[in-house]
Amino acid sequence: MLLHDSAAPPVADPAFRGDVLAGLAQPQKAVPARWFYDRTGSELFEAITALPEYYPTRVETALLAAHCSEVGTRLGPGRAVVEFGSGSSVKTPHLLRAVAPSAYVPVDISGDFLRASAAALAADFPALPVIPLEGDFTRPLALPAAVAAAPKLGFFPGSTIGNMIARTATDLLRTMRTSLGTGAMLLIGMDRVKDVDILLAAYDDAAGVTARFNLNLLTRINRELGGSIPVEAFAHEARWNDRYARIEMHLVATRNVDFTVEGQPFAMPAGATIHTENSHKYGPRDARLLLRAGGWSPIAEWTDAADSFALILAEARPEKSAP
Ligand code: SAH
Ligand code: AVI
Repeated sequence: MLLHDSAAPPVADPAFRGDVLAGLAQPQKAVPARWFYDRTGSELFEAITALPEYYPTRVETALLAAHCSEVGTRLGPGRAVVEFGSGSSVKTPHLLRAVAPSAYVPVDISGDFLRASAAALAADFPALPVIPLEGDFTRPLALPAAVAAAPKLGFFPGSTIGNMIARTATDLLRTMRTSLGTGAMLLIGMDRVKDVDILLAAYDDAAGVTARFNLNLLTRINRELGGSIPVEAFAHEARWNDRYARIEMHLVATRNVDFTVEGQPFAMPAGATIHTENSHKYGPRDARLLLRAGGWSPIAEWTDAADSFALILAEARPEKSAP
């Protein structure tokens, strides 16, 4: 059963405009990764998940298939499942079948894609209220009234938490805690630190899909913000930043370029970049520390044999002081 909770957004989002104009004005140009996800960006991300080099989706899906029944046993039925950055919701059925939820609220910034994915999922779960919520999950969520009284299970798969720097990630975890309430649970996927060659291949695939995903941001800026960026003058680059334990994606100007966005002029010399994404990777202790810093107590953890990806169940315990 598909219930609508929000209207379609305007095409030129003022937040997109603000982030792009501010980000392009910095010495190291940068645009927040959330703006990858227009309709084309969401479709390209789905194509990435099927790439041989992009292991996170395959590993996390296998972990969900193997361990969601234990999550269901630990939590019991009747929770409202709130998924952050739900995308295609293709992993979600593993969880929904195991936890017998009272409702499912997928939250995503990519509105058209969210509505299509929610409709497809609702068709497979006809008795489940499915209430898509379009918006930025880094802001406090106004959850639908229909789920106000139910205990909550937050679901944050894909290692999307890795796309945030530490301060933003802890802010987000705390915002989630407030939105979901004390006693809520969180099932979160976090990608592990591993061999740099494996990581670089996952973010610079041989078929060039990740490059198209990255470059689509420039096409979106041109279309939605009246930009004149010469897209063909930019190249995709994935870098490992060891100090921050993260993959960075950049768009590199292959020649000197001048362009305007919303009438404002910008110039980049050959070799300068626009930083478009961080994808942080976490060791086991890093992951648990990040969750605790965000107000969540880890209570169970599952990884694959190679320890390449972790699925962690955490609880929003009442705050208490401790030595
Ligand atoms: N959960 C899916 C999709 C991950 S891709 C999976 O595990 O495969 C990241 C998703 O988060 C995209 O669908 C994107 O549109 C969404 N997203 C990214 N930043 C967001 C934000 N700030 N608010 C809401 N959704 C966001
Ligand atoms: C959504 N997010 C966790 C993906 C990641 O791996 O950081 C986005 C992505 N970027 C390039 N490939 C996939």
